[in-house]
Amino acid sequence: MSTPPRPAKPRLVYAQPGDAVEPGHPVTVSRYGPWARVNHWITASSLILLAISGLALFTPALFFLTTLFGGGQNTRALHPWIGVLLFVSFFVFFAQLWRANLPAKVDVVWLSKIKDVVGGHEENLPELGKYNAGQKFIFWGMAALILLLIATGVMIWEQYFSAYFGIPLRRWAVLVHSIAAVLIICIFILHVYAAIWTRGTLRAMTRGTVTGGWAWRHHRKWLRELAGLRRRGPAE
Ligand code: HEM
Repeated sequence: MSTPPRPAKPRLVYAQPGDAVEPGHPVTVSRYGPWARVNHWITASSLILLAISGLALFTPALFFLTTLFGGGQNTRALHPWIGVLLFVSFFVFFAQLWRANLPAKVDVVWLSKIKDVVGGHEENLPELGKYNAGQKFIFWGMAALILLLIATGVMIWEQYFSAYFGIPLRRWAVLVHSIAAVLIICIFILHVYAAIWTRGTLRAMTRGTVTGGWAWRHHRKWLRELAGLRRRGPAE
């Protein structure tokens, strides 16, 4: 007897593979699997170490920070390698999330109601998929700045690449590298502030889940899609 064909996997519009409404009470929703979380925290740690080591090399006032890396020479040697780690780690993460961060029409509506966002009037906001426009801005902003940082970073990595770029170009690269670094630190502060300010968000990156209430309040289209996927038992 031939086995019946498996039903085709539904195409996800707002959610990503692995996202799921978990059985049990109270309802929780899986938002990031363990690998995505490890990936995120490696990315986060490398950016923090890069910011500290970069600032230490940027101004004599912060040179004392080089002690954390075993002195000035070690800081200078380590900083670009941590940059390579950030680049690889971020873009592995990027590959998993870019689709859910694509701009959508609803983002314009959400942005036009930014006063309600800040005022906590969720009832006036449109229903959203997995990410809001603010999160998408941070995502693409980080991606663009990390590309800029690695490109200009390679140009000023004298140990290996000094023969490939002339001095005037390297001067420009230092300037662009510093501006990109300041911008990404600002975006990082915004990201951490938003993660703490929106109560219940941090656990998405620690435990991997959010509460059903959080998902309903902030990302209702995402929740609706996941709820529709869940196979129900006959008594449910
Ligand atoms: C200590 C610092 C950090 C904290 C507390 C933190 C916290 C979080 C949390 C809670 C989320 C989940 C948000 C959600 O799903 O709604 C998240 C997502 C994310 N984080 Fe972080 N994060 C930190 C640092 C970083 C850094 C340094 C980067 C990149 C360089 C980064 C990149 C991301 C990205 C790309 C996402 C996915 C959001 C999206 O795709 O739009 N995070 N973070």
